[in-house]
Amino acid sequence: MVEISMRVNGADHVLDIPPQVSLLDALRERLGLTGPKKGCDQGACGACTVLADGERINSCLGLAVQYADREITTIEGVDDPLQAAFVRNDGLQCGYCTPGQICSAIGMLAEHKDGAPSAVTEDVTESGELTDEEIKERMSGNLCRCGAYNGIVSAIQEVASQQEVSR
Ligand code: FES
Ligand code: FES
Repeated sequence: MVEISMRVNGADHVLDIPPQVSLLDALRERLGLTGPKKGCDQGACGACTVLADGERINSCLGLAVQYADREITTIEGVDDPLQAAFVRNDGLQCGYCTPGQICSAIGMLAEHKDGAPSAVTEDVTESGELTDEEIKERMSGNLCRCGAYNGIVSAIQEVASQQEVSR
């Protein structure tokens, strides 16, 4: 067993866990935070996406011990305009993928704002416009079995344009 401290959604926790426990299992089974979902448990679906110091990560791919002393945010700790935008734009059906979609979108918008290019960015020297094509590429790690993709893109586009106006 390993004792680690972790800050999750603004609260400090001390966990006594085996070193092989994933961050996802630590969040869900030790801390009772069931917002992050276990879709595939192998990095293919994005349902487990959370933020670590503001960066989006697949929590099923990391060990909890790797994230000791990091600031983790799960959907339970999110208060973001994207949540209402997903509802307004029909960005969900069953909702299973939604916590991961929203955490991923928060991280993605920050990445774009910081000028990080994607595979479809034509000019990597500037961040450029966040087109639908850019959003689809940047969110391609988050699958939705209900196929709510058009609504998800619209919701992200709505929040991105609000952020642009307030800049
Ligand atoms: S459960 Fe982590 S990527 Fe699918
Ligand atoms: S809303 Fe059902 S999996 Fe995405």
